[in-house]
Amino acid sequence: MELEQHQSSEGSFLDTSLDIDPVSDAIGAEIKGIDLALINDQTFAAIHAAWLKYNVLLFRDQTISDSDLVAFSRRFGELDESPPNENGVMSVPGLPEILILSNVIENGVAIGSLGNEECIWHTDMNYNERPPMGSALFALEVPPKGGNTGFLNMYRAFDALPVELHRKIERLTIKHDSTTNSAGFRRVGSEEVGDIRTSPGAIHPIIRTHPETKRKALYLGRRRYAYIPGLSLEDSEVLLDEIWAHTTQEQFYWHHKWRAGDIVVWDNRCTMHRRDDFPQSSRRIMHRTQIKGDQPH
Ligand code: SIN
Repeated sequence: MELEQHQSSEGSFLDTSLDIDPVSDAIGAEIKGIDLALINDQTFAAIHAAWLKYNVLLFRDQTISDSDLVAFSRRFGELDESPPNENGVMSVPGLPEILILSNVIENGVAIGSLGNEECIWHTDMNYNERPPMGSALFALEVPPKGGNTGFLNMYRAFDALPVELHRKIERLTIKHDSTTNSAGFRRVGSEEVGDIRTSPGAIHPIIRTHPETKRKALYLGRRRYAYIPGLSLEDSEVLLDEIWAHTTQEQFYWHHKWRAGDIVVWDNRCTMHRRDDFPQSSRRIMHRTQIKGDQPH
């Protein structure tokens, strides 16, 4: 058991014991023995401090309702409504904050987004001016094989940058294409990308400072259709490949094998994630919330 001591909003120090078990050397921790439907402000303050420290938190054996998932997520901040994906907006009826991610098809209609495809490394909604600060993902049904989700520590990737690569990118930005999602599907209402230099999407610095921890992290979004403004297309591709080859080294990530009842909450400001594909013959149903964030600086 780890004793977390941290400052309350009134300035006094709280002692809150959380049973915290790091899940890898790279990133993430499991917090044991907590029912997320029942936590109080003091326990949440300790969870939040652990989130900033470990970047990804895992809670197992949760039986909470969708409304409780929304209430827990809202403790981190105001929530986004579900974004449109390849099948339009796929939220839980009456709860626009919950996006369904699923491969399940009922009566010929997909009940959620992203199907059973692999999702490449990305940070959620990087193509927006104000990407979400974080996301919570609740596993309702999981396949026996595949569908694991990887999380990558972008602080570590930044800290380990070779000097020359750091020098090359420190004042550069990336234009984050908004037309295609991480499973490769075109978003509803998006046009086919013609020229990646002019396709729509927000521009953010490659190196950002986390607004709460003040630590620097790489911010890459996703590789597909990314472009570094100010460089020729060819130079942009070469430099992006170099940054991605550095960032996606195994030493920076961990993959989570889901069990039904797991909730994972990640900090989008200092992580990327990806998902393995899985057989379409098995079912996977996940409910996701997203916490509103600020413009990366
Ligand atoms: C995602 O947000 O990219 C999907 C993660 C997952 O389905 O595990």
